[in-house]
Amino acid sequence: MTNPVITTVRDSVAVLAVDYPPVNALGPGVPSAILEAIEAAERNADVSAIVFMGAGKTFVAGADINTLERAAWGDPDAACDLHPLLARIEDCSKPVVMAIHGTALGGGLEIAMAGHFRVAAADALLGQPEVNLGIIPGAEGTQRLPRLVGVAKALDMCVTGKPLKAAEAHAAGLIDRVMDGDLVAGAVRFARSVAVTVRVRKTRERDELLGTAEENAPLFAAARELAAKVRRRQVAPGKAIDAITAATTLPFDEGCRRERELFFECVKGEQARALIHIFFAERAVTKIRGLSKDVQPRPISRVAVVGAGTMGGGIATACANAGLAVSVKDATRAALDAGFATIRRNYDATVKRGRLTGDAAAERIARITPVLSYDDVATADLVIEAVFENMELKSHIFRELDAVAKPGAVLASNTSTLDIDALASVTSRPEDVVGLHFFSPANVMRLLEVVRGARTSPDLLATALAFAKRLGKVPVVVANCRGFVGNRMMFPYMYEAQFLVEEGATPEQVDRALTGFGMAMGIFAVDDMAGIDVAWRVRQELGHFQDPSERRPLVADKLYELGRHGQKAGRGWYRYDEQRKPSPDPEVVELIKTTAREAGIPQRSHDDREIVERCLYALINEGARIVADGSVQRASDIDVIYANGYGFPAWRGGPMFYADRVGLREVHDRILQFERDFGPRWAPAPLLTELAQTNRTFRDLDRERS
Ligand code: 3HC
Repeated sequence: MTNPVITTVRDSVAVLAVDYPPVNALGPGVPSAILEAIEAAERNADVSAIVFMGAGKTFVAGADINTLERAAWGDPDAACDLHPLLARIEDCSKPVVMAIHGTALGGGLEIAMAGHFRVAAADALLGQPEVNLGIIPGAEGTQRLPRLVGVAKALDMCVTGKPLKAAEAHAAGLIDRVMDGDLVAGAVRFARSVAVTVRVRKTRERDELLGTAEENAPLFAAARELAAKVRRRQVAPGKAIDAITAATTLPFDEGCRRERELFFECVKGEQARALIHIFFAERAVTKIRGLSKDVQPRPISRVAVVGAGTMGGGIATACANAGLAVSVKDATRAALDAGFATIRRNYDATVKRGRLTGDAAAERIARITPVLSYDDVATADLVIEAVFENMELKSHIFRELDAVAKPGAVLASNTSTLDIDALASVTSRPEDVVGLHFFSPANVMRLLEVVRGARTSPDLLATALAFAKRLGKVPVVVANCRGFVGNRMMFPYMYEAQFLVEEGATPEQVDRALTGFGMAMGIFAVDDMAGIDVAWRVRQELGHFQDPSERRPLVADKLYELGRHGQKAGRGWYRYDEQRKPSPDPEVVELIKTTAREAGIPQRSHDDREIVERCLYALINEGARIVADGSVQRASDIDVIYANGYGFPAWRGGPMFYADRVGLREVHDRILQFERDFGPRWAPAPLLTELAQTNRTFRDLDRERS
């Protein structure tokens, strides 16, 4: 391996640049190379100070997550101990200035904090995002961070995992200066000046911000509350709080030892495996078999959205937030005004919550142009149709788009169910047509299902992926199958929940069991939020329950007929007050009972285990069919879809990973039991049978195929 640290000397300052693409993570050999470079610079009599930086696009982005993954799967030696390196940096007899650009995350920030000074480019980000991986900072971050920014800020950073921008980091005391202009030249100048004028202070010796037990008690309590709210059921945030507590109660070295113990407790835990799986799964989704990296995406600077309803408005907002000019077209002035008013109202609410300044909101709103004619659409590089879910209407719009859109424009549909190839076939350019299935609210939800039509061209697919990245979305390429992937799996899950209530469970009992498992919302609450009428329409569109011998859920249709269309109607499976807070509705309980009686469905009680297993195994069984028929490239793509678009707890790794962890034999056995108890809808997916019988997992399958 070539030396991953390049040293140059400029004006008697040694500039050490870690060069370990793509993100300068602390992979095998990197920490020792840094240590040697520091020692060499210290020995060099011509050097009066040291600047440490990252080569390429970033500072050090953290410990190597590949080695953490190995540690999480049972090899504790894989996670390297950075302590000797950090001590060597901090004890260096020459001032060490950390020059940060890009991201200083996790182990990267921990190295930076061991330096004597930190300067950063204005667009740099600094953070301890380890909780996203189910772990805590393991290289003294929980001990040095509170010494630099105080206990409250350190708690917030370690619990939420959110990084600070350079200006915020400066205000918090994490960095000494935000640099304009050439970072390296500025850092060298800074290093030369501090080499002669400033007494070096070691971070580990700064105790003045650590506070007293009395001052800290409410901060720790608030942090635990925050953790319960934003990271429900996750183990790592609590351990990070324990480690920061140790920083305030123990001498530095003992605090570090305590942090290391807590770090390994997390690394060995099930949640770290799951969250690290999701980290890599989210990065795998853009690696598409047959799509070479050399395929260039088409440039996108102008977007047009057709349809100013909830989805259209959300998509336009997502584009404007990403700095894109976007026009929103609707057929009538009234629809356009209503849509635009909603966009404005949502921005106002964001400003009110303090998440955006008024000026920034105004700037974003100014990027959105409401239009009634197709003139603006004709100049767009990407047109996203987001009208009512109806094939006739969408086909009509696609014919119009084909007539007006400029050559090479991407023609996308936000359909959640309809056949993309059928839409493409009404145009003269099916290779330019793709599905972009956003999830509501489109400006918030990270998931984007990219539906690849039979004739979608490779560069169009590359364009869709690049566009998704620009919007900050996680795109998953799926085949043009019925319901695509997320919804195709959700229906069996939802129907099983409905069968459970028809057999005697209540909607709130089912929802409680599912949220108890970790789902963000229960399925009945989801149905009410999405709209009982919407689900009804999708059922018709997808042609579910054509076979009369198939058991079909009965109550949902009745709710639809009664106009109980969910939250927006104030009543659905639940009753809603003016704040849209749900409560159980005796009328629904009665309706369920009567329906079950009329249909002769025997009533019994269900425990949470049965509820969770029936709902989740229905989801997983369909997922196995999807993997088998190639509607996704990998099983882990489904995990990404469910963790980012359907409220599945990421700390359980997504449904397919969860099935692996339960054990596919056990899942398969239960499904066979359900088949005996409830009939053919529970026939196990052949792929599940095969994996169970050969003692393999979905993870094994992904590896075999990669
Ligand atoms: N270790 C190993 N590989 C990493 C990595 C890391 N820390 N961070 C990113 N990568 C890899 C990705 O897997 C990807 O590889 P691929 O091209 O083969 O798929 C490649 O780098 C590029 O990553 P992204 O596609 O995510 O690139 P972006 O430019 O969009 O984002 C980033 C860059 C902001 C650095 C983002 O990758 C990121 O957030 N990385 C994770 C950072 C992190 O969590 N650091 C803490 C690690 S834990 C730790 O440090 C523990 C310590 O306390 C001991």
